[in-house]
Amino acid sequence: MSSLEPIPEKVFAETLAGFLAPVQRLLDDVTVSEILINSPSEIYYEQRGRLYRSDARFESEEDLLSLCQNLAQYVGKTLSYEKPFLEARLPDGSRVAVVAPPAARGSLKVSIRRFARERLRPEQLISWGSATQEVLDFLKACLHCKRNTVVAGGTGSGKTTLLNVLSSFFPDDERIIVMEDVSELQVQKDHVVYLETRPPDHRGRGEVTMRDLLRAVLRLRPDRIIVGEIRGGEAMDLVQALTTGHGGSMTTLHANHAIDAMHRLETMCLMSDINLPVGPLRSQIISAIDVIVQQNRLRDGSRRIVGVYESERIGERGEYVLRPLFQFQYEGLEAGTGRVLGKLVPTGNLPSFADDIEARGFQLPAAMRTARRGGRP
Ligand SMILES: Nc1ncnc2c1ncn2[C@@H]1O[C@H](COP(=O)(O)OP(=O)(O)OP(=O)(O)O)[C@@H](O)[C@H]1O
Ligand SMILES: [Mg+2]
Repeated sequence: MSSLEPIPEKVFAETLAGFLAPVQRLLDDVTVSEILINSPSEIYYEQRGRLYRSDARFESEEDLLSLCQNLAQYVGKTLSYEKPFLEARLPDGSRVAVVAPPAARGSLKVSIRRFARERLRPEQLISWGSATQEVLDFLKACLHCKRNTVVAGGTGSGKTTLLNVLSSFFPDDERIIVMEDVSELQVQKDHVVYLETRPPDHRGRGEVTMRDLLRAVLRLRPDRIIVGEIRGGEAMDLVQALTTGHGGSMTTLHANHAIDAMHRLETMCLMSDINLPVGPLRSQIISAIDVIVQQNRLRDGSRRIVGVYESERIGERGEYVLRPLFQFQYEGLEAGTGRVLGKLVPTGNLPSFADDIEARGFQLPAAMRTARRGGRP
């Protein structure tokens, strides 16, 4: 069985559940989003965006090892000195990742990310302060104008969640093809096709990479493509797919600032075997990517959109020039709770496709409309 498919409920209950008993209480608590096992007696969990130390513990390292080896067996892998990594999914879709010694110091490291059964809706992002109605309306307009969008952010900053919400903004009559390493997205549209990569089997056969999928997808007549996350050389294939007319597509990548997202994309393109000199490569990237949404995990644990940028042009010194469209204005910390105060506001800069937005019947944010009238309110 593929490591990406959830382990069947029955198999799990009969053979694996027992090994997870020490953390069952945390698994049952739907407000716990992540469980992090650093050693048998050092277990943390994340609840509403904050990390806490748990008093749960495994009896011994052997118990932890039994859990991991049983998981490995069910996903048809071995956890060994040569292969100290493992990924598996629990019946509810939660993702388990294991790093074993010697890659991990001391004990086995296990992280369990709960699969959010309830897909977040735009209203929830707004009520949690992660986004504003204004920015979501604007991003919807960008997608309808077929702008290619990258959601950038740190690990666990809510990129995939935001991508999922944004995909609900697509027009209804289009064919959407989703490509992922681990299936996480549930696009709330009628016409959606899901493709998934696959690791090689123990004989090294049958691997399906993101690059394979990106090449195959163009023959499947997508209107839009969604790539769960870009991590390596497949970035080049994506950039090429986007520049050959799949406007309004989306992906996520790991970067803490929008400008880093561009550099990271470039670095990943350079990992590909298509050798393009840096100059032309940058031009391709700038024409492939139109909008960058920066999602961060702030120090109070909250996840928020902290900026929206248009990738504007290549500057005179060959650098990427981004135009900030929305930026988060920090207003300090709330006394007592430590909550980060601030709001995401339009900068007043106009996107180059402002006319297109209005022509399609969308309204620009008020600050942009004012700027358009030459600053007069
Ligand atoms: N806006 C939000 N507010 C609070 N929690 C959120 C928000 N968005 C996502 N989360 C929670 O944060 C965790 C990580 O979310 P998600 O998987 O979307 O992040 P990610 O950036 O894609 O992570 P990764 O780097 O592993 O790909 C999940 O448990 C999710 O439920
Ligand atoms: Mg993700």
